[in-house]
Amino acid sequence: MTQTLLRGRLLSFVSAPQSLTDSDSYRYETDGGLLMDNGVIVESGLYAEVKAKAAADAVEIDHRPHLIMPGFIDMHLHFPQMQVIASYAANLLEWLNTYTFPEECRFVESAHAQRIATHFYDELIRHGTTTAVAYCSVHKTSADAFFGEAMKRNMRMVGGKVMMDRNAPQGLLDTPEMGYDETREIIAEWHGKGRNHVAITPRFAITSTPAQMEATQALAREFPDLHIQTHLSENHDEIKFTCELYPDAIDYTDIYARYGLLGDKTLFGHCIHLSQREADAMSEAGAIAVHCPTSNLFLGSGLFPLKALMRRDKPVRIGVATDIGGGSSYSMLRTMDEAYKIQQLLGERLNPLESYYLMTLGNARSLSLSDRIGTLDRGTDADVVVLDAGATPAMALKMEVVKTLPEELFLLQTMGDDRAIVETYVAGVAAKGAL
Ligand code: GUN
Ligand code: ZN
Repeated sequence: MTQTLLRGRLLSFVSAPQSLTDSDSYRYETDGGLLMDNGVIVESGLYAEVKAKAAADAVEIDHRPHLIMPGFIDMHLHFPQMQVIASYAANLLEWLNTYTFPEECRFVESAHAQRIATHFYDELIRHGTTTAVAYCSVHKTSADAFFGEAMKRNMRMVGGKVMMDRNAPQGLLDTPEMGYDETREIIAEWHGKGRNHVAITPRFAITSTPAQMEATQALAREFPDLHIQTHLSENHDEIKFTCELYPDAIDYTDIYARYGLLGDKTLFGHCIHLSQREADAMSEAGAIAVHCPTSNLFLGSGLFPLKALMRRDKPVRIGVATDIGGGSSYSMLRTMDEAYKIQQLLGERLNPLESYYLMTLGNARSLSLSDRIGTLDRGTDADVVVLDAGATPAMALKMEVVKTLPEELFLLQTMGDDRAIVETYVAGVAAKGAL
């Protein structure tokens, strides 16, 4: 395969930034070169040195003066909710019952699922997201469309058919047996095919009977390497109803723990209102709290105590995500802008180095996939985003006075969206330009 050599300013993280001046936490090459071959990064560093190692016929693309970073990772979103975005509801449970569940019923039709899958990947690529962790609908058809389209695009994706057998319309219910059997079929058909990862996906405790939770536990035992994803502690009414449904559990987190679902591959969406006991349990298990700021604000769910959870004696691992369609933007830049504002309201600071770490290496680590994504290291997947902090006239004007890298990152996060994404490379191939 022909090699591709990108030139520009390379930025990638090597550890979690401890402060705004923690320059040991990242690698920054002002005249950098990134050499990609056969879907993988083969060299990365000083342009002149990388160029010297490139094949004579390598195709060179000059992205100067733009920033070249690992592609963004979105740790939680719902593929069947593209047409749920911007639904006017008072709170989570009203939003689910009024808009979300009826919309997800449509995914029984494979033609509909396929159409939305095409749009879904177009939007991810347009916004610089190269890996996402998604919920499909309850229907196997939706998972087939989701993974089939990911394979066509050669994207590294994580996803699963939701398991749900109560408290939703009939068209959206499986049974413990169906949920188990279909998840097994999806694993057999899609896991490890192309760059696909299947996640065991009980939607949340409200929509799963104890019998279904047992079926989920059986899957988790049979497939211990798979991710598990579900929702936890998003909204006060949700928490109350959940605890009524599982009266023997100490709290919401304990429900999942009782069914063997609290581990270091478990991604819990939201986790806004955890007690200290729950945060301790999450920390001890190495489970991940996935912060979805635009969704939490849009649905009025609450202010996620990100910094407080990070600096505990028993810190909780964190991911960041859009949560489309409770979330209101596909952009991880817009997402981190809202994350910043939530911490402001809590009297905390989320510095821009931390934000870009979380969107890239931080999320990759939370997925146990940092050997493949979230970095620009040699041998890892060539999933890359190119960013322009002067993408709009207003951003370009502000860029005139920007002096440092953290200032530039903060501008991109505060004002940027898909217009700031110059190009998205998926496995070494320019994908945004091809849309
Ligand atoms: N809890 C259970 N299902 C959902 C969902 O689709 N979106 C959000 N935000 N929370 C949920
Ligand atoms: Zn969700």
